[in-house]
Amino acid sequence: MSKADEDYDYLFKIVLSGDSGVGKSNLLLRFTKNQFNPDSKTTIGVEFATRSISISGKIIKAQIWDTAGQERYRAITSAYYRGAIGAVLVYDITNKQSFEAVERWLQEVRENADKDIVIMIIGNKSDLKHLRAIRMESGQDLAQMYKVAFIEASAQDGSNVDQAFTQIIQQIY
Ligand code: GTP
Ligand code: MG
Repeated sequence: MSKADEDYDYLFKIVLSGDSGVGKSNLLLRFTKNQFNPDSKTTIGVEFATRSISISGKIIKAQIWDTAGQERYRAITSAYYRGAIGAVLVYDITNKQSFEAVERWLQEVRENADKDIVIMIIGNKSDLKHLRAIRMESGQDLAQMYKVAFIEASAQDGSNVDQAFTQIIQQIY
């Protein structure tokens, strides 16, 4: 790693949460490496990746943590949320159950993270228009109810992925 890569003004820990299969790992892969893995395996334990972005002349290193949506493969909840200043809750717009689970994930964040944590909801897989099960307005309504930001994105075609992470980073900053 070059010196430049290590030079940053702020380090932000941001966590990803949401049901298994909603695309958390692929959103991370898209944002940090501009890649997509159609055959990605369920996450076991915890992983993180970083990307630095510049905001108002400051370099912010976003350290984004990813764990399993599946209970049995998850990282220890309290450790996962410790020190996080942002949380991205993900559902899959083609999967109603994953949308209904968002409130539970929100509750987990509230119970384990700092009370000032900045939260954002992402409705992922917006490329799968023909399979949509959750209207965009439903996502907006849910986010509005909890006073958090909302965006639909696609890790597959990349739409709104940079915008989503940049938005939460900006909101934290
Ligand atoms: P866990 O690690 O089990 O919690 O799942 P995850 O939320 O990390 O999901 P993952 O990123 O592994 O994606 C699950 C499946 O959905 C994979 O087959 C991905 O290729 C696919 N997928 C992820 N994002 C998208 C997307 O935006 N569009 C489409 N069409 N497929 C996606
Ligand atoms: Mg995963």
